[in-house]
Amino acid sequence: MLPIIDKPVVHFIVEEVVNSGIKDIIFITGRHKRAIEDYFDYSPELELALLRKNKRKILNKIRSIANLANFIYIRQKENKGSGDAILQAEKLVKNEPFAVLFGDDIVLSKKPALLQLIEKFEKYEECIIALCKMPKKDLKNYGVVKGIKIDKNLYEIKDIVEKPKPSKAPSNLAVIGKYILIPEIFDELKKINKKGELELTDALRNILKKRKIYGVEIEGKRYDCGSKIGFVKAIIDFSLNHPEIGKEIRKYITKGRTKSSA
Ligand code: G1P
Repeated sequence: MLPIIDKPVVHFIVEEVVNSGIKDIIFITGRHKRAIEDYFDYSPELELALLRKNKRKILNKIRSIANLANFIYIRQKENKGSGDAILQAEKLVKNEPFAVLFGDDIVLSKKPALLQLIEKFEKYEECIIALCKMPKKDLKNYGVVKGIKIDKNLYEIKDIVEKPKPSKAPSNLAVIGKYILIPEIFDELKKINKKGELELTDALRNILKKRKIYGVEIEGKRYDCGSKIGFVKAIIDFSLNHPEIGKEIRKYITKGRTKSSA
């Protein structure tokens, strides 16, 4: 729920999903995450206060948030990894392909990042994962793929290694938190018998033994809002492009920072 200027990160992710043509969104939440449900709901007290002050523009903006999509919430009782979170949605997803987006990765792009994946899914009907080239020193924080380039921005994945040491990374193509998955992933997740967190990457490796997986190098600029540095970079870039404050922030960053009052 951390905001980038005037919208929480999760709002950007919901917009990405909606702008990619998906209207049914399942949130896997947990204790202490009720703020997400409240944010994407009507807010009668706030709406009434805005109405009384005749602030209709903000009122309409706030109303529209709840109407962005159909929201469904499932609470994960324990934090047991990305694979376990995905399993929570099995009964709702049924036997259909579905998209998974982690809460940290936002992409500034002309075409929504998820739509870039969906377009490839429509052609190949296999799991599709979002990729981004990263500096060697950062690869230890991500899933990293070994892939063969088969088209512009498109790779056939041969292997995925979760958080490799820099010397063991198979390439500089890291997995960012956006995937299209096929329903077989649920069985693969249930078959994993490993101590610790249930990782999506392990199930994807097993899928690779039977079927193809494709990776799309996403066109756009990606921000890891789960890291301090990525979050601050997002705030800087989004504020520079913001219609209300962009001009003043640009002035401040280029000339204003040495003044005694901000
Ligand atoms: C997860 C995945 C990892 C992926 C990353 C993207 O890691 O396990 O493969 O590269 O998301 O953000 P986490 O960030 O949950 O440690």
